[in-house]
Amino acid sequence: MNRFTTASFIKAKKDGDKISMLTAYDYSMAKLIDEAGVDSILVGDSMGMVVLGYENTLQVTVDDIIHHTKAVARGAKRALVIADMPFLSYHISVEDSVRNAGRMIQEGNAHAVKLEGGLEVIDKVEAIVKAQIPVIGHLGLTPQSVNVMGGFKVQGKDEAQAKKIIEDAKLLEKAGAFAIVLECVPERLAKIVTESVNIPTIGIGAGKYCDGQVLVTQDMLGMFTDFTPKFVKKYSEVGASIKGGVQSYIDEMKKGLFPEEKHTFAIDEETLKKLY
Ligand code: KIV
Ligand code: NA
Repeated sequence: MNRFTTASFIKAKKDGDKISMLTAYDYSMAKLIDEAGVDSILVGDSMGMVVLGYENTLQVTVDDIIHHTKAVARGAKRALVIADMPFLSYHISVEDSVRNAGRMIQEGNAHAVKLEGGLEVIDKVEAIVKAQIPVIGHLGLTPQSVNVMGGFKVQGKDEAQAKKIIEDAKLLEKAGAFAIVLECVPERLAKIVTESVNIPTIGIGAGKYCDGQVLVTQDMLGMFTDFTPKFVKKYSEVGASIKGGVQSYIDEMKKGLFPEEKHTFAIDEETLKKLY
């Protein structure tokens, strides 16, 4: 099976094929969603909330992302694996940013990296692309800016914000990004952005005009229930299924119904006698 590549992203937009993306943080989930046919897997810093139990993404480190990207890369045979650059890993200097992005590739086995922002980080994007590391941008609601945005809110509803998002998208394209995630922006603004650039837009809470969609897998499978954003559609109730399975196990085990003989290993009678 051919790997979905950054070139496949550009081709998909040209051909009008939608691009699918989901998050994964471990080998088993990556393998499942890869086998189901997802085009790309994002090892998102959403792992802060989903797997590490933090309140937001700000405590996630480069080492955290590398550790989980390694596992995901082993499970993803076809999907393009994207490592999310965490807070402060591409803010200090160009040199530091290239080094951190390089670690995602060299140690994490990712194919590409994602980072949040436009104009503010454009020198970093250019330098990382020059280092032959594919970059996907992220505009609109950028969760690493939560303390500046004053919460997780839809972005680009006023003219100034909307114009900045359109300009940032063009800057990212010019800097060499191969795609842009658009998070929580009005659907019609996402349409304008999508029509303004030749690289694909991947929406999350950004409506149907984007060239692709991304969701947090644990959200869309009903596994993460701390909160569910408006833009999530639940395609499964895996969380309920896990609880049901665990309750049956506890129940059967306590009643002596599990394990059964077929789950056990035998020892021959002669040996057994010698043990008494
Ligand atoms: O960390 C993440 O999962 C993300 C997606 C929601 C785009 O950045
Ligand atoms: Na993220």
